[in-house]
Amino acid sequence: MRSEAPKSKNITWHFGKVTRDDRAKMKGHKGVTLWLTGLSGSGKSTISRALEEALSGRGVHTYVLDGDNIRHHLNRDLGFTPADRTENIRRIGEVARLMTDAGLVVITAFISPYRADRERARSIQKPGDFLEVHLDVDVATCESRDPKGLYARARSGEIQNFTGISAPYEAPEAPEIRLSTGEMTPEVCAEQVIAYLEAEGYLG
Ligand code: ADX
Repeated sequence: MRSEAPKSKNITWHFGKVTRDDRAKMKGHKGVTLWLTGLSGSGKSTISRALEEALSGRGVHTYVLDGDNIRHHLNRDLGFTPADRTENIRRIGEVARLMTDAGLVVITAFISPYRADRERARSIQKPGDFLEVHLDVDVATCESRDPKGLYARARSGEIQNFTGISAPYEAPEAPEIRLSTGEMTPEVCAEQVIAYLEAEGYLG
């Protein structure tokens, strides 16, 4: 697990007596981060909610961290410059790490366009605690959906630095799970993720 040195000096790490295993036993499943990444309109919010519903229905303690929602509160000071996106993902990576340590199945739904930022979010977690889920669909399909009308506004130049149009998206090279969201319903995508979690022993 890699972490950068804190600015504060003279601080001490305090360990508790309740372990990850204890928490997993209490809940009947392991803590893990499902890191969804993909273009705007690729289905991150919809699939994360389908996953949340299906997992909660099985008694799995889940929580969704959604890009649009988090930007209303915790990250309301951030925009869409490369530096702001990096900070957005850094903070969410830390929140996801804490919630995973608490024993939850955390589902994050952020474009998270930069490979290095996602790799950093992975590197601060224990091996196996971070699963990258690529919502693999091309810009043209997302643009034809355009659920929020943002692609049209990006094309007209009204919105700048828009991912896929005027800002880059670096697709994952080796995600644990790849979902072709152009061809599958959100429910089928959620089933595929749950099948992976079952096969890998996360759900107890
Ligand atoms: S990220 O790039 O920093 O990971 P995040 O997932 O938090 O982005 O927020 C993306 C959401 O913000 C999009 O789904 C869209 O609704 C909205 N948005 C507004 N402006 C932009 C922009 N320039 N690029 C991408 N998404 C934008």
